[in-house]
Amino acid sequence: MNKKSNPSNKEKRQKRKEEQHRIKLAMQVVDCANSLNDPLESFPVFQRFSKNGIDATLYVKRVTHLDKDVKDWIYDLTKRNMKENYESCSWGWNDKKKYEELMDESAWYLVSQLTNGKLLGFSHFRFDLDEGIEVLYCYELQLEPEVQRKGLGKFMMQILELVAFTNTMKKVVLTVLKNNEHSIFFKNINYVVDETSPMDCDEEEYPYEILSKANKRLITTA
Ligand SMILES: CC(C)(COP(=O)(O)OP(=O)(O)OC[C@H]1O[C@@H](n2cnc3c(N)ncnc32)[C@H](O)[C@@H]1OP(=O)(O)O)[C@@H](O)C(=O)NCCC(=O)NCCS
Repeated sequence: MNKKSNPSNKEKRQKRKEEQHRIKLAMQVVDCANSLNDPLESFPVFQRFSKNGIDATLYVKRVTHLDKDVKDWIYDLTKRNMKENYESCSWGWNDKKKYEELMDESAWYLVSQLTNGKLLGFSHFRFDLDEGIEVLYCYELQLEPEVQRKGLGKFMMQILELVAFTNTMKKVVLTVLKNNEHSIFFKNINYVVDETSPMDCDEEEYPYEILSKANKRLITTA
């Protein structure tokens, strides 16, 4: 049969075209979110956390707009909280690699601090395409040990979900290390194993899993 008239080739070409179009539209959604000045601007209620003895303010900034002392603290807290977990699995800890990831120019930060300026916690997130889908990817959520288990982490994840879903991201995605005792936190706030999470098999065991929460509004109207 003539190649050009093969209906299955035609179908494949059409499917490829549709997929390219879908990815182009998804990229436009990501670009639009990345062009925001302050994703938290319209939500003053989420700029303050007063609970369990903590009175904190919260803001969102691009990494390029953070002060140097805040960037230094972000790196230091990540290392204090995570180095041991990284070192006790196949990932290992690499100062330079982690610093570069945290300071990548596509990084956004949600930062919480006391009114006197003491820094309490942060989330590093990005608006990005993940497997061709527009998502808010939460790279880190790190709190100072003395403010853990007081509801601040849950509040910060609610902010990420608000920012993600008001900017029509399809889901919030994150990677957790299986050896991190804190990973249970995400399941507690209704994150589930994502379809892109790798499955352990005889040949390979993965030290991490990928969790996500879907934008229900987009799923039901799709
Ligand atoms: C994980 C972390 C961000 C959670 O934030 P947090 O402010 O301590 O958690 P919250 O107080 O908001 O807890 C929310 C819920 O999760 C539960 N939870 C939180 N941490 C938990 C833990 N380690 N084990 C079991 N349950 C936990 C809380 O009991 C709470 O449940 P409730 O709503 O039924 O009361 C914080 O503990 C932290 O920074 N840990 C160190 C860094 C880390 O591991 N980050 C995650 C990997 S990126």
